Amino acid sequence: MNRVFKQRHLLLIILFVLASLLSLKWAQINEQPVIAQLGPPISAAGDEPIEPIPMQIPLNMEKVVLGKQLFNDPKLSKTNTISCASCHDLTMGGTDRKALSVGIDGQLGTINAPTVLNNSFHFKQFWDGRASSLEEQIEGPIHAPNEMGSSWPEIVEKLRQSPEYVSAFDKLYEQDISADHIKDAIATFERALYTPNSRFDQFLRGNTSALTKEEKEGYRRFKGYGCVACHQGVLLGGNMYQKFGVFGDYIKERGNETKADLGRYNVTGKEEDRYMFKVPSLRNISLTAPYFHDGSAETLDKAVKVMVNYQLGREADQKDIDLIIQFLKTLNGEIKEVA
Ligand code: HEC
Ligand code: HEC
Repeated sequence: MNRVFKQRHLLLIILFVLASLLSLKWAQINEQPVIAQLGPPISAAGDEPIEPIPMQIPLNMEKVVLGKQLFNDPKLSKTNTISCASCHDLTMGGTDRKALSVGIDGQLGTINAPTVLNNSFHFKQFWDGRASSLEEQIEGPIHAPNEMGSSWPEIVEKLRQSPEYVSAFDKLYEQDISADHIKDAIATFERALYTPNSRFDQFLRGNTSALTKEEKEGYRRFKGYGCVACHQGVLLGGNMYQKFGVFGDYIKERGNETKADLGRYNVTGKEEDRYMFKVPSLRNISLTAPYFHDGSAETLDKAVKVMVNYQLGREADQKDIDLIIQFLKTLNGEIKEVA
């Protein structure tokens, strides 16, 4: 009887101690909300929401070389003045570093030119996802009156004047120059524009010393603030649509709403797609200012602050913003030089 009583007594004491410990822990968690949200320190344990870019992608290199020539050839535009590279300069992260691009006859575009780096990993092409493949995407700039303003018969006619093109197409496609073959060559070149081996990818592959302490803290905040909800996967983007301005009307506050601001609504006509955009990739992001579909953020600092406020409904102190930017700078990969 006495022994049973002692045992119960002991059990009660243990339960009491456990309960106290638990409530203490709970109080600690509540006192440090930021730390709790940031999650455990980074270890690159292989369960991250971001995957590295493959180191090698097998491609027909002869097509890549022909595609590169076409990508850089102004004959693809009506006035022989604008090539794909005019707006997607590989020495500038695959962009033109302008808020809006300039096409033939000095005409201004309506939306910011995204990079062409790593585009084969995007689930759709264009800010509003209206093209499903790289090949389909090419139809856009070729025909847009304010970009290249041309047509396939015109382009094919011009390229046929060049014996080098005639023999290159003949060799690779066993046929005459055609729209489909031009698109195939350019798209193959674009597939070669992947940027592996960034320091962050080295870190993901297990080299924990590839990042500094601050960069790891930046990644921790990138996850802790919730950026990964939208910027994730191989590209930290490029795999879903999201509304721009979840917690506030960025476009209204900016003013002068344009058709381009409507985003995916222009494709589907559905009310719920108003202001929806493909989440952009953050790979090589420090090379491609200005930011957003309207080019309205001139610096990464501004872009990240807008994201914290309008996409996450939060405020962040400057130290956290700076750490996140340090992390973003580790996403610059090796741009493969194609002969
Ligand atoms: C006059 C400037 C200009 C020219 C020339 C141009 N582009 Fe673009 N490119 C843009 C703009 C602006 C966009 C964004 C358009 C949109 O999303 O509605 C874009 C989008 C793209 C995209 C999709 C990017 C993404 O993340 O969705 C690819 C790929 C691309 N261009 C490749 C090319 C190729 C290949 C050529 C040549 C055949 C070309 N561009 C010519 C300005 C240009
Ligand atoms: C709810 C989804 C969502 C969240 C959360 C989010 N983003 Fe974005 N992000 C987007 C969308 C959509 C765009 C494109 C906006 C536009 O231009 O229309 C974007 C654009 C950007 C850009 C500009 C990219 C470019 O090429 O112009 C940067 C940089 C960026 N986000 C970083 C971040 C960071 C850092 C965080 C966390 C603090 C974050 N984002 C959180 C959806 C999100």
